[in-house]
Amino acid sequence: MKPRPWIPAFLLSLTLLVATTPPVSAQRSDNGLARTPPMGWNSWNHFACDVSSRLVRETTDAMVASGMKDAGYRYVVIDDCWQVARGADGRIVADPERFPEGMQALADYVHERGLLFGLYTDAGRQTCQGRPGSYGYEAVDARTYAEWGVDYVKVDWCHSEGLDARERYALFREAFRDSGRDMVLSICEWGNNEPWLWGPETGNLWRTTGDIFDRWESVLTILDRTAQYWASAGPGHWNDPDMLEVGNGGMSDDEYRAHFSLWAVLAAPLMAGNDLRGLLADDEAARSTRGILTNREVIAVNQDSLGVQGRLVQNYPPELQVWAKLLSDGSRAAVLLNRASVPSTITADFGRLGIRGDSARVRDLWVHEDKGTFGERYEAAVPPHGAVMIRVTPAG
Ligand code: GLA
Repeated sequence: MKPRPWIPAFLLSLTLLVATTPPVSAQRSDNGLARTPPMGWNSWNHFACDVSSRLVRETTDAMVASGMKDAGYRYVVIDDCWQVARGADGRIVADPERFPEGMQALADYVHERGLLFGLYTDAGRQTCQGRPGSYGYEAVDARTYAEWGVDYVKVDWCHSEGLDARERYALFREAFRDSGRDMVLSICEWGNNEPWLWGPETGNLWRTTGDIFDRWESVLTILDRTAQYWASAGPGHWNDPDMLEVGNGGMSDDEYRAHFSLWAVLAAPLMAGNDLRGLLADDEAARSTRGILTNREVIAVNQDSLGVQGRLVQNYPPELQVWAKLLSDGSRAAVLLNRASVPSTITADFGRLGIRGDSARVRDLWVHEDKGTFGERYEAAVPPHGAVMIRVTPAG
């Protein structure tokens, strides 16, 4: 392009500099993983310490048979309690009774079914359940995981008194890199050390809060806190509002649909935390949980390649909100959230969603129905503790 005579040369070079400087994310010490929020399953929410080879194998099979794999779920992650000791050589030892065939054979089993395998450790001296932690053994552990075929590691923060989180998690990043195997680094220090500031250059996801529990209040508390850190999320590095509780029995179907819709719009990792074997049952509860966890239209919002975390765009008393997420095709996903315990009507204002133009098409992502073309807003009845989720596409 020939410089236009009326643009001073220094301005032109400035423009060129800005245009050619790589975006911030490309400057990060990126491992190239988790370009969209990781999807999978983690044992903790439902099974706590009751983990075993058998559970992992059956869960892997259920992930395939239930349609979860087809819907995009990939990682099968064993949380705390799989480890019992360190050998004389410093290597971590898996519980020989619960994991008799060892972790490598288990990882093979998962891989042979087209899925990925994850483990849990702790940056401190012990895990939260008192098992051996990785402190001082980061490099040894990274090499062991790589040898076993691990693809994802959640690193907790119990028993870490006096340690510097940013420094300790960076050690894992380096150790994983040196191991020669691609492993997602899931940082779990509960938002105690502002991980949204250093998480993006250190790991692929970081917890924003303490542990979720299977109650509506917990979903709302975590939502409000995680929402503040939207600017830190993007391809390869995500805020983690914790694993899903969908299907664990403590909330109503409306609450679970809202929970899933909100995690989708937050661009949160979608790690199922229920008993996947239960999804295969031929009953109403199983059908409902399966319908929520495998809703492809909602998952597509979460997995959108732009990787933007959605934000609160409207907030009306009593406790009525609209959350919106920009998608790569220029449309917006919106969650009309009724936090209150009475039914209500919520109106999503297209201007507030960032939609320009005279009208927009609306599709309901739970009912799987095109609702038509609307001028400036869309109004829906929303059940108590519930959500309506729509995709709004500018018409013409
Ligand atoms: C912490 C983490 C949980 C889980 C448990 C395991 O509480 O935040 O997600 O990993 O430890 O002990």
